Amino acid sequence: MKVGLTTFSKKYKQLVESYLKESVSHLTAPSMIKEAMLYSLEAGGKRIRPLLLFATLEAFGKKGEIGLETAAAIEMIHTYSLIHDDLPSMDNDDLRRGKPTNHKVFGEAYAILAGDALLTYSFQVVSNASSDHIPAEVKLKLITELAKASGAEGMVGGQVADMDGEGKRLSLEELEYIHIHKTGKLLEYSVVAGAMIAGANAHQREMFATFAYHLGLAFQIRDDILDLEGDEEIIGKKVGSDEQNNKSTYPSLLTMEGARQSLVKHITLAKNALNSMELETDILQEITDLVANRNH
Ligand code: IPE
Ligand code: IPE
Ligand code: MG
Ligand code: MG
Ligand code: MG
Repeated sequence: MKVGLTTFSKKYKQLVESYLKESVSHLTAPSMIKEAMLYSLEAGGKRIRPLLLFATLEAFGKKGEIGLETAAAIEMIHTYSLIHDDLPSMDNDDLRRGKPTNHKVFGEAYAILAGDALLTYSFQVVSNASSDHIPAEVKLKLITELAKASGAEGMVGGQVADMDGEGKRLSLEELEYIHIHKTGKLLEYSVVAGAMIAGANAHQREMFATFAYHLGLAFQIRDDILDLEGDEEIIGKKVGSDEQNNKSTYPSLLTMEGARQSLVKHITLAKNALNSMELETDILQEITDLVANRNH
């Protein structure tokens, strides 16, 4: 029986959320650091990256469960990136996922360390994935690509360019670099990792990468739009953060109308890539629509 996104999300959110809670709770570590890690992990969040990984596996007719550790690792890295993104020396935000930001509750030192711990632990978690599900050589590739997507060539590189760009009027090309890296790379990895675990061929991997590239850009364009016209209660973070930090965004460079057009363009290109494959991509299509229309 085919299930829709609501049933799919409920099942896999529960799966990844209980894994996150269990695995961090069981660490032999000072209780305060575990508390700080769990505070941000459990604050909610859409879990869009894990859901993308699970949906990609299902597109190949595989069980999402075989990607559980990798999905949890991605959510750990994403959560660490948010904790650090909110720090006073970065975006200086005090609301995240509808709650006070990590540093507001635990102080800056703990927030930095909780981020460090989540980042490091994520690699341990992928390494520990059962070899019955993921052969060792695939696991090695998963780890390499995760490091690349998260580090200086990926998310961190994008965050650096984002910080550097504050107070400057960037070109669209420069802004695209930021979006593709700070947000796109980890989203892209979520999909490509699913394809790798499923045993996709090179062509399929490329098509999924194209899909996720456009989805990642669209995701951050929508984030920029929501930063201007979102409802704080719904998005769970402060509206107007970008303006306050003098950031270039899609709406600031292209006007709101231009940003919307760009969003539609990338959603269309993402769907074209999905449609070019003869796989069961219904859930991925639904996630793509959600990214285009999301209000949080
Ligand atoms: C927020 O990501 C930061 C960006 C990369 C745009 P999400 O919008 O996925 O945040 P959560 O995980 O749902 O809180
Ligand atoms: C952050 O982009 C991307 C990462 C955390 C890597 P933003 O700074 O726009 O994200 P929000 O709006 O604070 O969630
Ligand atoms: Mg930021
Ligand atoms: Mg921010
Ligand atoms: Mg933002």
